[in-house]
Amino acid sequence: MGLLDGKRLLVTGVLTEASIAFSVARIAQQEGARLVLSNFGRGLSITERVARRLPSPPPVIPLDVTSEEDLGQLADRLREHLDGLDGVLHAIAFAPESALGGGFLDTPWPDVATTLQVSTYSLAALARAAGPLMSPGGAIVGLDFDATVAWPAYDWMGVAKAGLGSTARYLARYLGPRGIRVNLVAAGPQRTMAARSIPGFETFESVWTGRAPLGWDVGDTEPAARACVALLSDWFPATTGEIVHVDGGVHAVGA
Ligand SMILES: NC(=O)c1ccc[n+]([C@@H]2O[C@H](COP(=O)([O-])OP(=O)(O)OC[C@H]3O[C@@H](n4cnc5c(N)ncnc54)[C@H](O)[C@@H]3O)[C@@H](O)[C@H]2O)c1
Repeated sequence: MGLLDGKRLLVTGVLTEASIAFSVARIAQQEGARLVLSNFGRGLSITERVARRLPSPPPVIPLDVTSEEDLGQLADRLREHLDGLDGVLHAIAFAPESALGGGFLDTPWPDVATTLQVSTYSLAALARAAGPLMSPGGAIVGLDFDATVAWPAYDWMGVAKAGLGSTARYLARYLGPRGIRVNLVAAGPQRTMAARSIPGFETFESVWTGRAPLGWDVGDTEPAARACVALLSDWFPATTGEIVHVDGGVHAVGA
């Protein structure tokens, strides 16, 4: 018996084998789930290539979370492959250069708006678009980075992540009556493509190396992915609006 036997999942955000979503997809398949992957633009063909490295290559559909057209077609595109949806992984974030790296006071609104639309609002947009296929027992899981403090360089992405936590709590409130859970996994730093665009990412690595009581491997996305799979399973039936930290314990300890 796998943890996700018979579950039908949409997994967004697989870009490279280093993507957190790639580990989620791999473990979800090992645990018995059927998957559809999504990505956008040039990422789409890359995702198609990377999907072949999964135990059983799943179909890949286009989904740009800023495109009303893609969001509107999501349910139909999913129906071509799955007869319903038990879970959604939101593993999507983007910030223009000016929104990261220390220029916080000078970031123009359009760049802040893009950061928030792609990284925060998209959780609600995705929940709305996938909603028609979901039934009681369904789960939506997103990926967070601790936003309780102001980190160096993380800037507007930190604001976006604070908003993501709040968005997840409101979605938990509004989707709970339909039996759908919404939770986040707050992962420690991982060396992914998204991380490469954060100037001074090494600072995070050294904070985690110095502070994580359990230690932390920036190259290993499996701990965060396992938590996502657990939250997508039936093993957290009464948990929603929660942020599960998978960070080696950093959030719990002082300097
Ligand atoms: N890497 C880290 O240190 C870390 C830590 C905690 C949380 N996270 C979060 O994990 C999630 C996944 O990121 P990752 O680190 O695996 O990096 P990644 O670069 O592998 O994944 C980011 C994904 O977002 C997708 N994306 C960007 N804009 C999009 C759009 N408009 N529509 C649809 N998809 C879009 C990209 O194509 C890519 O697949 C993000 O939410 C990120 O903030 C990352």
